[in-house]
Amino acid sequence: MTTTSAFATLLSMEPITVLQGKQIVLGVTGSIACYKSIDLASKLTQAGAHVDVILTESACRFVTPLSFRSVTGRPVYTDMWDLDDHVRHVGLGESADALIIAPATANTLAKMATGFADNLLLLTTLAARCPVIIAPAMDGGMWEHAATQANITTLRKRGVIQAGPAAGRMASGLSGLGRMLEPAELLGELRLLLARGGKLTGRRVVVSAGPTREPIDPVRFITNRSTGKQGLAVAQAALDAGAEVTLIAGPACEQVPYGAKLIRVQTTQEMGEAVLAQAEGADALFMVAAVADFKPRTTAERKIKKSDNADEYLRIELEKTLDILVAVKDKRKATGFPKVVLGFAAETHDAANYGNEKLQRKGLDFIAINDVTAEGAGFAVDTNRILLLGTDGVVEEMPLLSKAEVAERIVQHVARALDEL
Ligand code: CTP
Repeated sequence: MTTTSAFATLLSMEPITVLQGKQIVLGVTGSIACYKSIDLASKLTQAGAHVDVILTESACRFVTPLSFRSVTGRPVYTDMWDLDDHVRHVGLGESADALIIAPATANTLAKMATGFADNLLLLTTLAARCPVIIAPAMDGGMWEHAATQANITTLRKRGVIQAGPAAGRMASGLSGLGRMLEPAELLGELRLLLARGGKLTGRRVVVSAGPTREPIDPVRFITNRSTGKQGLAVAQAALDAGAEVTLIAGPACEQVPYGAKLIRVQTTQEMGEAVLAQAEGADALFMVAAVADFKPRTTAERKIKKSDNADEYLRIELEKTLDILVAVKDKRKATGFPKVVLGFAAETHDAANYGNEKLQRKGLDFIAINDVTAEGAGFAVDTNRILLLGTDGVVEEMPLLSKAEVAERIVQHVARALDEL
């Protein structure tokens, strides 16, 4: 039996490649949203980044340097007059891969726009040669103020990346635009930033994920056990490689990666239409979804009542759904797009043979075959064991890996194939 806890450990220990070993300076300024930055620092550290935190004096009134030190395991900086290292601001700014200021108050934005350098964070920001992200957090009225908007425009013109703010309830009790983005979203922003220049930069990639649902009546449907984890991981890996990603997701797909363009679908027919439309001009299609192969021939408009059936049986006649990859094959013949197509094959026996047959019949460049009955592989777990076939035979036989790692490897193979076209 699968021991979920062992695999969960494997996942939680896993660094995120695009962030691993990266030097991130996290600037924290005086807003109540400071408490969320502790979580951001923790997430970044767990992802493998080295996080150097600089707190302004006002930030220290909301949170303590110790809070950050506890989650990053590194020194936290607050004082520009602490002269142990006389060019600390230059050192921190120059070695950083990215500088993120979260939360960024109206005051700090104004000072940045003007070029002020009266605290260590501002000094470091001026000295930094890396990309800078700001995550504004303030009351709605302050955000909308002409002065703040002018400052933001100035900073954006200089190449500063603006992340947020979001709309919602603020500390004042009022609702409006001014909330700092959530730590997970800011992590997503950093991933997108660090992915720039990756192997799929400038490529448009389509990924399908999850199951589909075929309605029997308004309250019942046929579906399968997929939760979309592998498809979501592929979408994330493509984003991490710098691609523009469209994710076509069936129901049950949660935790959609930040930065993907999301198209939600329910049925195989809807997924097929979305895939065919998005395939137009696409570089690659990763058809990871566990598409329903059969659907009821008719869908009852009203709930089917037990009392409607005199005997013990309810007969539902099923018909085959559209084979999306076969339709893609025809489209590709006519248009040349998508340039590279990868399918998945979920098998319970004789996996390599069935997988190979699907590769041929569906006109694929690659097929990722998994035996869904193997320990640690298949639906609703965080790991997978994949045999990747190409048109010339075995490309890679992967050991048991996290779905994120499987996704990274698959994406690398497809990126290489695109480069070789
Ligand atoms: N697929 C598809 N359209 C369908 C069914 C599947 O495009 N109606 C895609 C899946 O997304 C996957 C690949 O085809 O990438 C193989 O799916 P799989 O369910 O393993 O194969 P089937 O074609 O359904 O064949 P079988 O049921 O005989 O295993």
